[in-house]
Amino acid sequence: MPTLFDSLTLGDITLKNRIIMAPLTRMRSKQPGNIPYALNAEYYAQRATAGLIISEATQITQQGQGYPATPGIHSPEQVAGWKLVTEAVHKEGGKIFLQLWHVGRISHSSHQPEGGLPVAPSAIKPSGKVFTADWKQLPYETPRALETNEIAGIVADYKKAAENAKAAGFDGVEVHSANGYLLDQFLQDGSNTRTDQYGGSIENRARFLLEVTDAVIGVWGKGRVGVRLSPYGTFNDMSDSNPVKLFNYVLEQLGKRGIAYAHVIEPRATGAGGGDAVSDDLPSTSDLFRKSFTGVFMSAGGYDAQNATQAVASGQVDAVAFGRIFIANPDLPERLKEGAALNPYNRATFYGGAEVGYTDYPFLNSKAA
Ligand SMILES: Cc1cc2nc3c(=O)[nH]c(=O)nc-3n(C[C@H](O)[C@H](O)[C@H](O)COP(=O)(O)O)c2cc1C
Repeated sequence: MPTLFDSLTLGDITLKNRIIMAPLTRMRSKQPGNIPYALNAEYYAQRATAGLIISEATQITQQGQGYPATPGIHSPEQVAGWKLVTEAVHKEGGKIFLQLWHVGRISHSSHQPEGGLPVAPSAIKPSGKVFTADWKQLPYETPRALETNEIAGIVADYKKAAENAKAAGFDGVEVHSANGYLLDQFLQDGSNTRTDQYGGSIENRARFLLEVTDAVIGVWGKGRVGVRLSPYGTFNDMSDSNPVKLFNYVLEQLGKRGIAYAHVIEPRATGAGGGDAVSDDLPSTSDLFRKSFTGVFMSAGGYDAQNATQAVASGQVDAVAFGRIFIANPDLPERLKEGAALNPYNRATFYGGAEVGYTDYPFLNSKAA
């Protein structure tokens, strides 16, 4: 029976274990310019014992930004900053993919080029509040629906960002199509009411994601590209009339492309970025979707030592991504292996700030404490 500590072939690379560091936005890039710097490099290097680190979501363009101090991958300074991170992780024997991000309507004009409105598949305002560029929380604005002829430009932005990720020394990229951001907004019919070839049928709503995936494969090759999805996710005001049909179609199409892995968030932990509630009565993604995807199936959301061990042993999933507990436990693989106690995480320091709640969580042998 496979364990969390077995190696795993993921497309073109081999992971030393199946314990993945989930992508985690921390809003700590250097200002101005949203540039990764030495502190971010230290944070990721501390976690290099993960089989794979997936970076925090990283905007592909200024238009793709929706929160203050999230890093980008569209300026030469950002590429140089990410190089510090990838070199530090590689020096510690780790592997790291960059998560490519466009937030779509989950933004505010204060983040947008020339103060324009955020863009989206349709002019549907999400409920809830946005973080403005100066860290205020305001109601969302009604986004501007993208013109059909603008979409190819955003596909090209993803391609350019994937090229930049290569220049920055990453091992691969993950396309962020989860959690109610732009690509997910196109997939789900609660946010997409378009009548062109990017709206309506499931095939049409999946078109943008598949075009982006193909463009990124063109840069990296299929063996170094993963895609993240969140079926049934309600975070960022998402909904779909038939998620089982939609996400099975998407996973089949991604499987046909032979990508390195599909990364699926369990509905039970859809709101982990904003709260701690875990609902155990929601469907399991591996039950609903695994059969549709032929490659490596990575799952995230509400895992601990026990249920992760069981999910890998039963073959339900191939690898498990840990979010909140990886924030608080830089040496998580070692702790899981030894059955050691875990440091509790402090939600108050998830977003923004510097070392506190970021690089100062103690190691088992208090290497960094
Ligand atoms: C502070 C924080 C930031 C997050 N940022 C991202 C992100 O940048 N990209 C993403 O795909 N998911 C993000 N998530 C979701 C996590 O990757 C993960 O799916 C979620 O936390 C559930 O896993 P967990 O129960 O192990 O924490 C974030 C979650 C948290 C708590």
